[in-house]
Amino acid sequence: MYQFTNDCLIGVTEIDKEHEHLFALINQAYALLTDKDADLRLTAQTLLAQLKEYANTHFAHEEAYMKEIGDPELKSQQQEHADFIAYMDTINIGYLDNTRVKPALESLLEYLSRWLFRHIIGSDTLIGKFESPFAFTSKYHTGIEMVDTEHKRLFEIIKDANDVIHAELLHDKYDEIVRIIEDLKEYTEIHFRDEEAYMEEIAYAGLAEQKAAHTAFIDKLASINLDDLDDNQQEYLEDLIEFLLNWLTMHILHMDKKISV
Ligand SMILES: [Fe+2]
Ligand SMILES: [Fe+2]
Ligand SMILES: [Fe+2]
Repeated sequence: MYQFTNDCLIGVTEIDKEHEHLFALINQAYALLTDKDADLRLTAQTLLAQLKEYANTHFAHEEAYMKEIGDPELKSQQQEHADFIAYMDTINIGYLDNTRVKPALESLLEYLSRWLFRHIIGSDTLIGKFESPFAFTSKYHTGIEMVDTEHKRLFEIIKDANDVIHAELLHDKYDEIVRIIEDLKEYTEIHFRDEEAYMEEIAYAGLAEQKAAHTAFIDKLASINLDDLDDNQQEYLEDLIEFLLNWLTMHILHMDKKISV
């Protein structure tokens, strides 16, 4: 029997609840081992099928959450989850006779519960600990749907640029970078127009200050010159990404979030 103890908590309510339920399903199967009246094979098969289905659903939720927060461990988690499901696919106790079902189930449950416990402690408790700086997380939400959607897109464009800069195998990064920076300039102008129109509509008192900040950023974007990048191009581009991300996050946290309050 495995207990879901506090050291298994990762701090995300939804995921914690699902982990607890996985343990409950395993313990339910354990209980069969001491139940004299149970039709062991049939009940165990049903329970294992339930466990697999629930594990699948849970893994999908967990991976979606990790994707949303841009957790860099996503790939290795996906692999571990896939291994677990692949293992469950190989389980077949249907052909065993009654005397062999019990020991088979016992060792199977031992394996599954140990795997789950190790996985939660070793991998799941790290979820959210290494948040990507490019993730558009809830702390950036203004609560204004249009603004949030557009900010998310700006984060994505900056992340795309960063990915290209750090792509080892991409030979002709230059054209790609120029294209992304053009996208960024274009989309930033669209976003500022939309945001300012919204502020005008609600007669927001901080509109003038917002317009000044937006104009300064547009000027800065216009001054980016990628024509004469030389040997230092990597460093220049890395600095540029840092500046863009920094400006965007600071502007959202310190100015845009005030629009909705
Ligand atoms: Fe996991
Ligand atoms: Fe904004
Ligand atoms: Fe703004």
